[in-house]
Amino acid sequence: MTRRPVERLADPNERVDELEAELTLRPKRFADFVGQGVAKEQLEIFVQAAKNRGDTLDHVLIAGPPGLGKTTLAGIIANELGVGMHTTSGPALERKVDVAGLLTNLQEGDVLFVDEIHRLNAAVEEVLYPAMEDYEIDIMIGEGPAARSIRMQVQPFTLIGATTRTGLLTTPLRDRFGVWQRLEYYETGELAQIVRRSAGILGVAVDDASAAEIAGRSRGTPRVANRLLRRVRDFAEVRHEGTVELEICLAALKLFQVDAEGLDRLDREILCTIAQKFDGGPVGVETLAVALGEEADTLQDVYEPYLIMQGFLKRTPRGRVLTRTGFAHCGMKAPGEGGTLFE
Ligand SMILES: Nc1ncnc2c1ncn2[C@@H]1O[C@H](COP(=O)(O)OP(=O)(O)O)[C@@H](O)[C@H]1O
Ligand SMILES: [Mg+2]
Repeated sequence: MTRRPVERLADPNERVDELEAELTLRPKRFADFVGQGVAKEQLEIFVQAAKNRGDTLDHVLIAGPPGLGKTTLAGIIANELGVGMHTTSGPALERKVDVAGLLTNLQEGDVLFVDEIHRLNAAVEEVLYPAMEDYEIDIMIGEGPAARSIRMQVQPFTLIGATTRTGLLTTPLRDRFGVWQRLEYYETGELAQIVRRSAGILGVAVDDASAAEIAGRSRGTPRVANRLLRRVRDFAEVRHEGTVELEICLAALKLFQVDAEGLDRLDREILCTIAQKFDGGPVGVETLAVALGEEADTLQDVYEPYLIMQGFLKRTPRGRVLTRTGFAHCGMKAPGEGGTLFE
């Protein structure tokens, strides 16, 4: 198998002006990938084993909230295997011919990375099944009554699927992955390590206290940690000499309205909307989305998981319910927790 450079394409979640920074900060080797001990160790073993045998790596499904390193890991896997990576996403693959075109272009052992794989449509999924299983695809030749389908071989390849919601994957698709990994939110210590690494790459001096402070407010998410670091750097450069010390760091975070829990403006708006407009819930996610002027999907994939994990919010069969901690964060008391009337 010949070694080719790995293509690094845009992450659809990122704004264009942040893309460049994202790309330079993205680790390219397992050794530079901080945290996710179990997932990382397992993947390292599977990659090494496939390499030793000269085999194609089994298909890999990586799940977890946005910004935890799914795309990064896919890139690392391709890089460590020494194969090319082709990137696409569920919503981008609209027609059968799109996926057939991609598959016939693959070289032996290549990685096909499909982001947001839970958003593939049924027709496209059907093309993928025999491709994943036997490296074969059915394509239609001709039109009308003369049309017929022929079976074609494609090169052995590794499909790496990323998803924020495993629950939305169809069973036949899920079953065709040989390796499943779920990424978890990061510990503050790990995030501090990521901040220090990124600061080194960006060439900005950040003291340990500031790295820890940024890490603690990053909602367990490396993408958020890197973004906060870049914003704090901007502040330090414009208002000070460019070095990030704790006092400067705290002033910057205050200006950017990122609170001690790492919640930003929209997080607080979610909590306070449930408290004030819906008496703490239960409120359905669609209703909540309308009240906030946000997409229900964004609320569900990006914001909720962290708020739930931190105990601000609960998901119940009847909708979202604010917890005591959630009320407290809005400066309110939960109903029944000592009257708010006579305080
Ligand atoms: N384990 C990690 N170690 C260091 N940096 C990381 C790690 N995971 C993610 N990152 C950083 O966070 C950014 C977002 O990661 P990404 O792979 O795009 O997340 P996802 O695809 O899950 O949304 C990357 O650009 C990378 O710089
Ligand atoms: Mg991604």
